[in-house]
Amino acid sequence: MKIEKHCSLKPYNTFCIDVEATELVTLQSQEDYAQLVGSQYLKGKNYFVLGGGSNVVFTRDFDGVVVRSEGGSVRLLEHRDGHYFVEADAGVLWDDFVRHCVANEWFGVENMVSIPGTVGASPVQNVGAYGVEAKDVIESVHLFDIETGEKRTMRNADCGFGYRWSVFKGALKGRCLVDRVVFRLDEHYTPKLNYQALRNVLNERGMDNPTAQQVCDVVAEVRASKLPDPKVIGSAGSFFKNPVVPAAEAERLKAEYPELVSFPVDQQHTKLSAGWMIEKAGWKGRDRGQVGVYEKQALVLVNRGGCTGDEVRQMADAIIADIMARFGVRLELEAIML
Ligand code: EPU
Repeated sequence: MKIEKHCSLKPYNTFCIDVEATELVTLQSQEDYAQLVGSQYLKGKNYFVLGGGSNVVFTRDFDGVVVRSEGGSVRLLEHRDGHYFVEADAGVLWDDFVRHCVANEWFGVENMVSIPGTVGASPVQNVGAYGVEAKDVIESVHLFDIETGEKRTMRNADCGFGYRWSVFKGALKGRCLVDRVVFRLDEHYTPKLNYQALRNVLNERGMDNPTAQQVCDVVAEVRASKLPDPKVIGSAGSFFKNPVVPAAEAERLKAEYPELVSFPVDQQHTKLSAGWMIEKAGWKGRDRGQVGVYEKQALVLVNRGGCTGDEVRQMADAIIADIMARFGVRLELEAIML
């Protein structure tokens, strides 16, 4: 494993915030994982396991060890009962994994193309887009328990998946080092078109019965039209979660704001579009110092050039307070502030 001292984290977080970690450990192979955990290198130290750095905002230098994985491969383990069981190493880029699956006609992940980050981070926050979440395709997660040094396999049902949530953000927070994820993909393609915005684009193009490749291409295009390219503009994707509120509260709000975009979750709960509320409150395209609300998607905060984590926090706090005052709804961060 590679150990670097006093290392800038700027290349490793998509918000491009220039802070330093006391130590940066990079894992590049299965042996590296075993060595890191077996040697108890992290024992008694403050540490943080970083994925692709696409969901984290550093507000200060990290006084401790940042661990990240890099590289790896995707392997077909088994083909049975109409499914492909495919294993990917934690350091593989999520988008490379999706495109590899689509090219091989292993179906189920195509709606999640272009999400920044790594395979290892995908179960942690149950990434999702366009009507599909990682939990829909994850079979099992292989990890090391950093505290006990044990190797564990968590089956899908053990992972406590929810909307941008899992046990790895809850009871097991900070304890796990994911080294591989096994996905259960389909042999036959069934388009997953429950996301209205995706259906609309496909309909406009006359794609009534799209292939997985077509869906993948359309999602990539739609995302590129409203989300900043992390290689060009620093951001952490959606900065806030879409709040889930009691259905009665959503009804009350919709009576006042009939255009409020919402999605039913179950009979008792409704998910509200945070982007719509932030836009309605007049924040879209606004800057404060070097932090901005992205002009094409109000759920995204962007780095206008050399912003600090503190500036991001101040902007987020101001938006949360304003949305609470106007709509009586508390926004929660999707991004992790450190
Ligand atoms: N909207 C606005 N103004 C805005 C943004 C959105 O009015 O500035 C309304 C529009 O009506 C739009 C609707 O909200 O049609 C939904 O917007 P969008 O399709 O962009 O989705 P989102 O709810 O804002 C979520 C995820 C995204 C994911 C998309 C597509 C969260 C926190 N975000 O955003 O995930 O790509 O759906 O599935 O759930 C991420 O997590 O980083 C991320 C980008």
